[in-house]
Amino acid sequence: MTQHTSYHPGTSYHPVVGIDLGTTSCTMSVWNGREPVVVPGPLRSVVAQNDAGQIVVGREPERDAQPVIAGVKRELGSDERVRLRGRQYRPPEICAFLLIELKRRAEAFLGGPVHDAVITVSGSAGEPQRRAIREAAGLAQLNVRRLLDDPVAAAVALGPDDRERTYAIYDLGGGTFETAIVRINAEGVAVLGGAGDPRLGGDDFDERIVGYALRQIRERHHVDLSRDDHVRARIRREAERRKRELSTAEQAVLELPSLTATVSAGVPLSRRGFEAMIEPEVTKSLGHLTAALANARAEHGIGRDGVDQVVLSGCSTRVPAVRDRLCGYFGLGAGDIRTDLDPGHLNAIGAGLIAREFEPAVAFEGSRPGLLGANLRLRAEMADPSPAAPSTSAAGPPDLLPGVPAETPADFRPVADATHLLLVRDGARPALRAAYLSFVAAIQAAAPDARLAELGDLLTAEFARLR
Ligand SMILES: Nc1ncnc2c1ncn2[C@@H]1O[C@H](COP(=O)(O)OP(=O)(O)OP(=O)(O)O)[C@@H](O)[C@H]1O
Ligand SMILES: [Mg+2]
Repeated sequence: MTQHTSYHPGTSYHPVVGIDLGTTSCTMSVWNGREPVVVPGPLRSVVAQNDAGQIVVGREPERDAQPVIAGVKRELGSDERVRLRGRQYRPPEICAFLLIELKRRAEAFLGGPVHDAVITVSGSAGEPQRRAIREAAGLAQLNVRRLLDDPVAAAVALGPDDRERTYAIYDLGGGTFETAIVRINAEGVAVLGGAGDPRLGGDDFDERIVGYALRQIRERHHVDLSRDDHVRARIRREAERRKRELSTAEQAVLELPSLTATVSAGVPLSRRGFEAMIEPEVTKSLGHLTAALANARAEHGIGRDGVDQVVLSGCSTRVPAVRDRLCGYFGLGAGDIRTDLDPGHLNAIGAGLIAREFEPAVAFEGSRPGLLGANLRLRAEMADPSPAAPSTSAAGPPDLLPGVPAETPADFRPVADATHLLLVRDGARPALRAAYLSFVAAIQAAAPDARLAELGDLLTAEFARLR
């Protein structure tokens, strides 16, 4: 999962890219035949217009006077209009500019056309936002194969695991906060609870610093610059830069020369001072985490102590105080806060892994990821040492259950046959039954052969009848 691994053309004639569409930056990943590769980037989520009237994507304008739109993700689904010079745009139109640029970059990277994408969306996004992203993709001539919730994308990036583990995904980006309690095993990802805040992120941290700097300037220079938009924008840029510095350094100085004709300022800021400023935001995020856990507890009986590890996604999780607070919250050691995965890449990698499932070449390669996953799930269920409930109504004489399709790939046959018997004996075990049904569904999905699909239908129907 490196940024430097090159793409190997020929593994797929139809690449589907995974796009993490962020409030402040967008990252892409694509399957290279061996592993997900992060497309060089990221692309900053800003759309500006230069003096010649051209739309410029991904770069702050050269001069303060040039119009710029940032953070459009937060406006998707709203009736907001945003203005660049002389024209008003709806949020999906601005978002489309980002997607057009992403598509262009992906094509340059892959050396061929890109038509399809899996795009991340806030877990808390409603139908209007999701529609707006689809509309934006349509304008950018991208076919959305799936919209993937941010925290699910992060979880998928961890990959399936033979040992079942429960994770808290904590995704703190620039503009939105998302959290989910997920369970990952060989079969994949299950979301046990989730919560989020569409307006909580690193942008708010920057605003805290801006407020602080403005107060310092007022005290020292006896001038209130808080209503000057250009001054604010300049301080915000410097604040964002120094904030990042404070993730590794203990001290930083906001350098603000020639803010106005008479005011130049240098505002020192310590890591401790910064962490105290953002305490309310961090506490708020933990409140959402508590809500997600309440969900997981109510529906799945998972509590705070049931969480094995915390997975950090989103670049605002680079703030050391965030990690420390999470350790304290869960009573976990620093080793259980996953830092081995780049928080800036995680969601894109997850989207890229899901995107891979839509690449038709996969079916021709014979690797059949759907079947493989279903097979793994069946194996896990069959290996489950917990005693099965005595078979009751669901069990029928073996000859009432249809056989496994003859065209079932050879390596799946033993599992299928064994499960078939197990079902007859232990039909009351719901998890096993569910695993068997998805196995059958996967056979249907993987098979281009109509007869096999028909058999799959028959199996499903028969089995549903026995339930
Ligand atoms: N080293 C760092 N230390 C602290 N904050 C950082 C660091 N690097 C980046 N950030 C902050 O992380 C935020 C961007 O994170 P990210 O790119 O994950 O967000 P996003 O995916 O664009 O937004 P969202 O997920 O909210 O839609 C910005 O606020 C940025 O200032
Ligand atoms: Mg993000």
